[in-house]
Amino acid sequence: MRLIFIGPPGGGKGTQAKLLVEKLNIPQISTGDMLRGHVKNQTELGIEAKKYMDSGQLVPDHLILSMMSKRFQDPDCTRGYILDGFPRTIPQAEGLDNLIEKLNQKLDRVIILEVNDEIIVDRMSGRRIHLSSGRIYHTKYNPPINDNKDDVTNEELSIRKDDEEETVRDRLQVYHNLTSPLIDYYKDIISIVNGSKKIEDVHKKLIKLLGND
Ligand code: AP5
Repeated sequence: MRLIFIGPPGGGKGTQAKLLVEKLNIPQISTGDMLRGHVKNQTELGIEAKKYMDSGQLVPDHLILSMMSKRFQDPDCTRGYILDGFPRTIPQAEGLDNLIEKLNQKLDRVIILEVNDEIIVDRMSGRRIHLSSGRIYHTKYNPPINDNKDDVTNEELSIRKDDEEETVRDRLQVYHNLTSPLIDYYKDIISIVNGSKKIEDVHKKLIKLLGND
């Protein structure tokens, strides 16, 4: 199965994609996680991308498409994938069409997680992440077992630099201007899901939608 998750920053794309990975046995491909890996390792791409990420702006399309074109060559992609945070602009969607056409593949479904802006701002203030695995927590809605520690490694959790309220509001603006036009682009294969319900309720809804219950 080939899925795309689209939604505002903090809409729950990463959380829901991670829950589905286990059920569907396909990889989650998160451009945000990939870019944070590049920033951490101070690669050329990471140094360039950081300037945009810290201010809540999108990394230029050509850099994202080149990174994704390499990722699609990995053997785990042959079974299918969940794209989380890509595409985010019409040029990226057109680039993805070209990539998958060359690989003789077809997208199955695009899921929009809808959450209003004020809920997002509240959610982001409590997000904590485990940087090396990408595991996501929330101080109130999805707390770790031990305070501020990753459940698997017990390592310290981090706060993302772009989760400050002002940057979150800029990211929401970018989402409304550049990413929401994709709803029309994918209108034939789109499903809109209310992402403001509890994490487990959204998950159940997705499982039902994908016919995997
Ligand atoms: P990226 O990492 O993709 O950020 P984003 O899309 O803004 O989305 P987030 O990761 O912030 O949120 P999410 O929807 O995954 O929510 P989560 O599950 O964590 O991108 C970061 C930056 O990289 C971009 O700003 C850009 O600069 C660059 N970038 C990345 N991809 C790019 C691309 N394709 N093109 C150009 N630039 C790109 O949940 C959020 C919080 O809420 C968590 O704490 C979670 O526990 C909690 N939560 C989740 N669901 C619920 C729920 N139902 N109820 C209560 N709490 C919940």
